Amino acid sequence: MRIIRLDTVDSTNKYALTHLDTLTDRAVIVAEEQTAGRGRLNRVWLSPRGENIYCSIVLKEQKSNPLLTVLAALAVARTVRGRGLAARLKWPNDVLVHEKKICGVLAESNAKGLVVGIGVNINMTAESLAALDRPATSLRAETGRIHDRGKFLRELLKKFFAFYEQARRAGFAKLAEIWQNELDLTGKRVKIQTVQQEFYGTVIQIDKEGALLVATAQGVEKVLAGDVHVV
Ligand code: BTN
Repeated sequence: MRIIRLDTVDSTNKYALTHLDTLTDRAVIVAEEQTAGRGRLNRVWLSPRGENIYCSIVLKEQKSNPLLTVLAALAVARTVRGRGLAARLKWPNDVLVHEKKICGVLAESNAKGLVVGIGVNINMTAESLAALDRPATSLRAETGRIHDRGKFLRELLKKFFAFYEQARRAGFAKLAEIWQNELDLTGKRVKIQTVQQEFYGTVIQIDKEGALLVATAQGVEKVLAGDVHVV
């Protein structure tokens, strides 16, 4: 693993995708700030200077796998729990504390490989979080103290690559199982919002590829990306 530290960048994901030719497998791009941080569903990821973690992990794999984003969310949730907070996973790959988002993961790819982008709110103040359009939190807002970003990142990357090695050796099915247990969505009535549509249904399970299988009046929908709200 090689860490490339940038001061300011538009987006660590965009940087990694643009430089995939010269970046090695498992390189990690970390920035102090992002001027155009990217979120899922074309949202903006607010990335103020020096407060949070903005990083992108390069994986020189040909085939995109939705469970890679799960790896990242699980690694973040465990690192947050190591600080005494009850972190919960929210499908597809958010981490929440007290029902507020503390981390988002965005995986992107091109023909040359994949990039797993991770944003974790570490030292953002409760005031700046309140300005966001969705409920969000940070380690600082939850604990009332400043946290060491470098230490968090080291622990997070160690966990991520440990999960990654395990999944490559033993397969991703085990990971889907851990995820399914942590998500606790099975049997719940949900509203799904994707870029194309919005519908209601009951969650059957997460399949081996990480898709959410939802029973609706029209049949079973397989959802790979979107927002899920328990109703
Ligand atoms: C989400 O919408 O929940 C995903 C947010 C992902 C944000 C991270 S920050 C580092 C990386 N670079 C980006 O531009 N986005 C991801």
